[in-house]
Amino acid sequence: MRVLFVCLGNICRSPTAEGMFRRHLDEAGLAGRVEVDSCGIGPWHAGKAPDARAQAAAAARGLDLSGLRARQLDDDDFGRFDYLLAMDHDNLAALEARRPADSDAHVGLFLSFAGLPDRAVPDPYYGGDDGFEEVLDLVEAASRGLVEDVRRRLEEGA
Ligand code: 4NP
Repeated sequence: MRVLFVCLGNICRSPTAEGMFRRHLDEAGLAGRVEVDSCGIGPWHAGKAPDARAQAAAAARGLDLSGLRARQLDDDDFGRFDYLLAMDHDNLAALEARRPADSDAHVGLFLSFAGLPDRAVPDPYYGGDDGFEEVLDLVEAASRGLVEDVRRRLEEGA
């Protein structure tokens, strides 16, 4: 099973989601069965580590994001990943616009897995530290829901 988190820059929200989901997979004993990555719709930050504010907020909750490096969405991602999960509606629209007609990947909003079907993870880039805490809270809830969804699919396919 392969999961890709998608935001605009791949330096704030999607790396936070990647780090959180890796931890929850590990806690669920599923780390060896799921591949996880993140990417950005935009090219600007490719090769960069996550934003220092995102790293600091995550570190305060025990998550080390320092080894992650940003990359841009690639057309091949639609064939490689089972889930492509957007942080907001713009990211989702960009994914839908590039999605090949024959793709059967689950493309949707990440927060649907937190029981928040039409909600976005707000972009914290131009705001204050509160925004990064809100990202962590939302991502934590959705990540737990996603672990359960992935577990169900693994059991169905087993
Ligand atoms: P992210 O945040 O999409 O959560 O990584 C942003 C990072 C950079 C920019 C926008 C959003 N930017 O415009 O450079």
